[in-house]
Amino acid sequence: ADLEGRLGAILADHAACEGPLLPILHAVQAEWGHVPQEALPIIAGALNISRAELHGVVSFYHDFREAPAGRHMLKVCRAEACQARGGRAVEDAARARLGIDWHETTATGGMTLEPVYCLGLCATGPAVMLDGRVVARVDEARLDALLAEVEA
Ligand code: FES
Repeated sequence: ADLEGRLGAILADHAACEGPLLPILHAVQAEWGHVPQEALPIIAGALNISRAELHGVVSFYHDFREAPAGRHMLKVCRAEACQARGGRAVEDAARARLGIDWHETTATGGMTLEPVYCLGLCATGPAVMLDGRVVARVDEARLDALLAEVEA
C-alpha cells in the first residue's frame, strides 16, 4: 500500500497536536494493524526524535505491535481473581502449547498470544478470549479444545 502517502496524512492530521506521538502510533496501528518498520524513520523524522527513542516507546507500550498479528488471537486473563482460580496453569499451558511467550505470534502466523487483565468473568474464571469470544472456566483440556477448534 501507499505507506508514505497515508502516513503523511496521519502525520498532517496530528501536526497541531500536543504530545502527538501516541495518537500517531495508535492511528498507524489502526491503519495497518501494526506499526510497520518502514514507518519508524518517517515518524521519527516528522517529530524530530531519534529512532531509538521511538523504538523505546513502541516496545514499551504493548498495545503497539511491531509485526502483524496472527490469524487468531488468544487473550488469557492474568488478573488476580483468575489466578486465584487456577489461571496460572492456563497461562503456562497456553505458552507451552503455542510455543510462544506473551505478545508473540506463532511461526505459522496462526495465533498471537496476549495477556489481558480481567474479562469481567472473575467469578467463573479462569477466563480467556479467543478471537473476541469470551470463555469461562478454562482448564488445560478446555484450552486444548479451543486451540484445536482454530487449528492452532
Ligand atoms: Fe479474570 Fe476478572 S480476573 S476475568
